[in-house]
Amino acid sequence: MSTIPTHVALIMDGNGRWGKSRGLTRSEGHYAGTKAMEDIIDASTEQGIKVLTLYAFSTENWKRPKDEVNYLMSLPIKFFNQKLPEFMRRNIKILISGDVDGLPKKTRNAVERAMRKTKNNTGLIVNFALNYSSRSEILQAIYRVLKDAKENGLAIDDLDEVTFEKYLYTRGLPDPDVVIRSGGEKRVSNFLMWQSSEARLCFVDELFPDFTKELFVKAIIEEKEDTGLSWKECAG
Ligand code: IPE
Ligand code: IPE
Ligand code: MG
Repeated sequence: MSTIPTHVALIMDGNGRWGKSRGLTRSEGHYAGTKAMEDIIDASTEQGIKVLTLYAFSTENWKRPKDEVNYLMSLPIKFFNQKLPEFMRRNIKILISGDVDGLPKKTRNAVERAMRKTKNNTGLIVNFALNYSSRSEILQAIYRVLKDAKENGLAIDDLDEVTFEKYLYTRGLPDPDVVIRSGGEKRVSNFLMWQSSEARLCFVDELFPDFTKELFVKAIIEEKEDTGLSWKECAG
């Protein structure tokens, strides 16, 4: 018996190495990564997944060379311009987890427009972790909890996990069942540290532009053995 997870989170790693290994630039690797990402979005609708979280840019990624950062910040503009009509047709809802206010204005406008336009869609949720850091997410949640306790009558003694989760960027979303990382590194890189406390971790060697639908499906489907107790390891 196999189960399709409700929420799959994906660390799309390895674009830069992919570009370099082909005598291309790191940015060309990122462009190739967006093509792989489109396939993974298709596979997610085909598999009936409800939420797909894609790690697109971490707060640590600002430390990269300026040209690469500029290119990464231009990608959402191009991507949503091109894909929004299709997402509307396919009933896909776009969410962003991360510090949207810290994005360059044009990038922020593009992602806010995508969220606004798709907000009533009821199909697959594609949640981009953009300008995201798990530690910052938890800290900003704590600041806002304290503020609500001080100014809005939140009873701090009643604070529990359910209430705290409402202060995270991922509010309203179920926790990921599986976190996949492409590119061969076995690291979490400040990604969904609260939300993935129960998640299965799956590390795949392929660089993200080489990450195919088939690899994705292999990684998300866990075969349940007859006892229902033990779980096979993921692909990769
Ligand atoms: C993509 O892979 C992740 C992003 C920050 C967009 P990388 O750019 O980290 O590629 P590698 O790991 O250097 O190959
Ligand atoms: C994680 O990849 C972040 C994204 C995929 C956006 P990185 O390449 O930035 O992470 P590290 O530097 O290997 O931890
Ligand atoms: Mg990397």
